[in-house]
Order: sequence, then structure tokens, then C-alpha cells
Amino acid sequence: MKTVLVTGGLGFIGSHTTVELLARGYRVLVADNLANTRREVLDGIASIAGIRPTWANVDLADPVACRSFLAGHPDLAGIIHFAAHKAVGESVQKPLAYYRNNFGSLLNLLEFTAEHPRCGLIFSSSCTVYGQADQLPVCEDAPIKPAESPYGNTKQVGEEILRDVAKAHGFRAIALRYFNPIGAHPSAKIGELPLGVPQNLVPFITQSAAGLRAGLKVFGNDYATRDGTAVRDYIHVVDVALAHIDALERLFAGKGSEAVEVFNLGTGTGSTVLEVIAAFERATGKKLQWDFAPRRPGDVVAAYADTNKAAAELGWRAERSLDQCMADAWRWQQTLPGR
Ligand code: WQD
Repeated sequence: MKTVLVTGGLGFIGSHTTVELLARGYRVLVADNLANTRREVLDGIASIAGIRPTWANVDLADPVACRSFLAGHPDLAGIIHFAAHKAVGESVQKPLAYYRNNFGSLLNLLEFTAEHPRCGLIFSSSCTVYGQADQLPVCEDAPIKPAESPYGNTKQVGEEILRDVAKAHGFRAIALRYFNPIGAHPSAKIGELPLGVPQNLVPFITQSAAGLRAGLKVFGNDYATRDGTAVRDYIHVVDVALAHIDALERLFAGKGSEAVEVFNLGTGTGSTVLEVIAAFERATGKKLQWDFAPRRPGDVVAAYADTNKAAAELGWRAERSLDQCMADAWRWQQTLPGR
């Protein structure tokens, strides 16, 4: 039975991926220092999977702590690296914390894979590396635009670091560029747990519908899109999780020729903010109160994925609809105590 390390495994995408790995019979080791989640997520994972993964509360950005932690697991078959700070706006306020944490943890993990080249690594990247793409849907070989935030820069430079180290040390890696992961596990036992005021649209919508948050704003209604509001590729978090299993098993099977391969994880369909709101109301029967507000600095007009490479090489496509995302997100929100 292969052992897979999931860093940030108690986080939003990490927890959903851990559930799918356990369902496939992998032994899962979760490393998470609870910087942006709660330990109760482990109970949710165990409740769904029927197995409680081993959890290590370790700061992977601490080279000594990370090295001694990994020294206890020389047999790791693969690492899926989610653990990172990921709030775009916060990264502009705290660039040092973002670079120290996101690059530090990546470098410490790469020290291990350099010494254990049979252990492959899956890296959480993001569609933010494209900025405002010149062509949509955006392909993996689209030009990388200058990062709009330190967060986006940690993804762009993270991919470059990955490429340099994997080539030099002969291990394989895959970077997965997420579009907009949303929703929750259909069991409503795990889901998104934004701490504080949600920066992202869907958790703000669900907290607004739950009466926990007032003042849902639609940022910008003068974009050159079908209804004037910005377009994104919203993808169910379970679809994103399943793509990680396919990517990991591609590495295990030794498929692919490049040291580092890159894949978009999106549905290939763009939805406007107003269409997301309409989907939520349709899926839940809840009416949302919202107002237009000025555009949010740093937002791109539109982003949605070309999904052909992931379909052809990973054999993976997103299967869940926007309405299902909304229904699952709402069911999860209703389990949360008023925060
Ligand atoms: C989506 C759309 C907003 C909130 C970011 C990161 C990306 C990934 C996902 C980490 C935009 C609009 C939002 C609100 C709104 N994060 N919006 N009212 O900015 O596309 O992507 O989060 O991996 O890397 O860049 O997601 O959900 O913040 O915004 O109108 O209260 O909803 O302007 O058009 P975004 P988002």
C-alpha cells in the first residue's frame, strides 16, 4: 500500500483530496499546522472515509522541523503539496510572510524529493499565473503574465523552482492550475472554512444566505461580458480532488516525458457573477440580497480553462454542474454554527 503525504490536508482542497485518496486505498499522511483550518476537519474526513489519516501538526516552512518530520517517512510514494497561504489581497499586505511560508515549505519538500527521486510531487498552482489571458479558453502554453500579487508570484515562481529542481535531481512533478474551486463534499461533512470575512464569492454568498453576513456586493457591472459582471471558471472541489488522484497515478505509472507537466483544472465554461448568484438561488430556493459595487482592484475580466490537455493526458474532466456546486456549498454552510 503506497503512502502519500498531503500537505495542507485539513484545508479545503486538501481535505477533499485526502478523502478520495483513502477511498482509493492509499495510506495518507496529513501534514497541517492549522494555520488556516480547524482540527475538526480530521473528524469529517474520518467520518466520510471510515479511516482516520495520520495527522502531523508540523510547520513545513521550518527547515529543521520539516526535515526531521520527513526523515520518519523515507518510504513516501508521493507528495501532494497544498499547504500555502492563498489570500490574494492579504498577500499584498504581507509579502514577506507569503514568500517565507510558500517558498520555504516548497523548498523544504523539494530537498526531500531531491534525495528521494522515486517520490513524485503534485504542486498546487493557480490560473492566476495567466493574469488576463489574451485568448480564452486559456491553454497551458499561454504566456505567463506578470503576477498581480505576491500570492500569484509564489505560484509562478513556485512552478519555475519545481522545474529547475526536478530536472536537476531526476524526480517527476505535476503542477495543477486551479481555476475557481467551490462547493463542498455532498455529505456536508467537509467543505470550505474561510476564517474571517470571506474574500471569495461563493463563501460570501452562502454566509449571506445564512444570515451571517450582510452586504453581498457584485464587484463591477461594466465589464465587457454578457451581463457586465466578471467571468470565472467555477469548478466543484470534488472534481478538483479527483484530478489530483489521476495526476498522482500518472506519476506512479511513469507516464509523460517532461520532468514537470502542467494541467489546467477547470470546467472549460465561464460563468458571470450574476449567473453564479442565479445558480445559487435556483439550486437552493433562497433569495439573495446584493448590490453592485465598483470593480475590485486586481480582478481580471474573464478566465476560463481550456480542458483538452487534462482530458487527453489525465483522462480527467469536471463532471459536476454549477448548480450542484451551489447546492453542496449551501448544505455545508447549514452545518456551520453562526460564526
Ligand atoms: C470571483 C469573482 C470577483 C467576492 C481567487 C484567486 C485564485 C483562487 C480563487 C486561490 C470575481 C467577484 C467576489 C464578492 C464579487 N484562490 N466577487 N463579490 O478572485 O477569481 O480567484 O480566488 O487559489 O487564485 O485569485 O475568486 O471568488 O474572489 O472572485 O463580486 O464578494 O467574484 O470580483 O469577479 P478569484 P473570487
